[in-house]
Amino acid sequence: MTSPVAELARLRHRPRVVQILAVVDEAPHVKSLSFGDKLSAAAKPGQFGMIWAPGTDETPMSLLPSGNDDGVTITVKERGEGTRALLGKRRGELIGIRGPYGKGFTYDGERSILMIGGGTGVVPLLSLLRSLAPRGVECNFILGANTSHELLFSTEIQGLCTQTGGSFRVTTDDGSAGTRGLATDEAAKLLRARTFDCVYTCGPEAMMKRTIELVEHAHVPAQAGLERMFKCGSGICGSCCIGPYLVCKDGPVFSSEVLKGLPEFGESTRDASGRPVRLPRP
Ligand SMILES: Cc1cc2nc3c(=O)[nH]c(=O)nc-3n(C[C@H](O)[C@H](O)[C@H](O)COP(=O)(O)OP(=O)(O)OC[C@H]3O[C@@H](n4cnc5c(N)ncnc54)[C@H](O)[C@@H]3O)c2cc1C
Ligand code: FES
Repeated sequence: MTSPVAELARLRHRPRVVQILAVVDEAPHVKSLSFGDKLSAAAKPGQFGMIWAPGTDETPMSLLPSGNDDGVTITVKERGEGTRALLGKRRGELIGIRGPYGKGFTYDGERSILMIGGGTGVVPLLSLLRSLAPRGVECNFILGANTSHELLFSTEIQGLCTQTGGSFRVTTDDGSAGTRGLATDEAAKLLRARTFDCVYTCGPEAMMKRTIELVEHAHVPAQAGLERMFKCGSGICGSCCIGPYLVCKDGPVFSSEVLKGLPEFGESTRDASGRPVRLPRP
């Protein structure tokens, strides 16, 4: 007889078609799509699904379980064909999903944590925050964006951090909200003033690379969720490799210990044909 865990592992590879139950505008060119899917609703913070709109390729998207029954949300930012097709979907229309896949963030009894998020990297951190806030963990958050219009989930994040006795700080590149500058500038100040049991980060790779440098200096362990070019999303094609790792299978979340040994981290990624491409600098 198959164990429930093995059965779950098998079923997640099976593509499902789900109906969109709600669409919410979050920011210019960013929308959240909610649907019901039992397997995705059990996703751990940092795990992703392979999502597709009919007629387009699959795209990896972080899964944000709502905590009620089988409700799940994905928050999509327009980048190319696949994300544009998802953003064009309306309530009642159908999309496809497989997963959840990958290794998400781990929590090992830490009492105080700092999260640093930018862009749609905020989605897996919000999932982590939702799961840790009710457990009495002091949660601190630095939310970064280019402008005030691009800040995602700031009201919910601020509310949850406050509940835990933690702090919430905003940075924008143009100074239109919070402190003008980079999320990592704010992190540097905070890490000079106090310590944390763990730092969690997700967003542009340059931001995560700088975060890993800061935590090294402050002797704090960290975990970072990487976004790389995925094709299969399940450890078969090799398009997401970084050093000896497959980001879709061994990650997308990696510890600072692993990342500091990877010269490509924060420096270069791979395009759809596998060619190395330099990553933008902040
Ligand atoms: C684990 C994981 C979780 C993610 N979660 C989210 C999320 O919650 N919300 C969200 O909006 N996006 C998320 N992404 C990024 C998203 O998957 C890409 O934006 C999407 O695949 C682009 O597909 P497309 O067809 O729209 O663009 P394409 O037409 O395929 O490409 C457009 C441009 O984007 C680049 N690109 C494509 N895929 C990626 C990628 N994976 N990483 C970086 N650059 C890429 C291409 O090189 C090209 O320059 C996640 C990626 C990963 C790996
Ligand atoms: S996307 Fe195919 S192995 Fe990772």
